[in-house]
Amino acid sequence: MPKVTFVNYGKTVEFESGQLPYSEHGKPESLLDIALNFGLHLEHACGGNCACTTCHVHVKDGAANLSPIDDDEADRLDMAADLTLNSRLGCQCVVTGDVTVEIPSWNRNYVSEGGGSMNLGDAIPAGKR
Ligand code: FES
Repeated sequence: MPKVTFVNYGKTVEFESGQLPYSEHGKPESLLDIALNFGLHLEHACGGNCACTTCHVHVKDGAANLSPIDDDEADRLDMAADLTLNSRLGCQCVVTGDVTVEIPSWNRNYVSEGGGSMNLGDAIPAGKR
């Protein structure tokens, strides 16, 4: 059974492939789908359709246990803040084995603040808030 560790939450979840109820966000058994199934918040402004970058995660371990990155995901990731060689879009990478992921800093701030509809803190100029 694949295990996914979400470092920010200090939580590891385990699921049986093919048995996870699909939450209708992102690809089935993607990191986003898994997070939502276990009640862990991962931002997903476009609903898991590879049309934003808010589900951006850094893969700390087990990158080979994720589906290969396709052109759509690679193109979209190019627009992500805090991009690293280990970056993936949570809604697009399907988990096939054990992985450890971290939500990058600008999203992590969002997590530590307990949520809301969107983190626009960095997107809106200070004078316009
Ligand atoms: S939720 Fe928008 S790209 Fe993943």
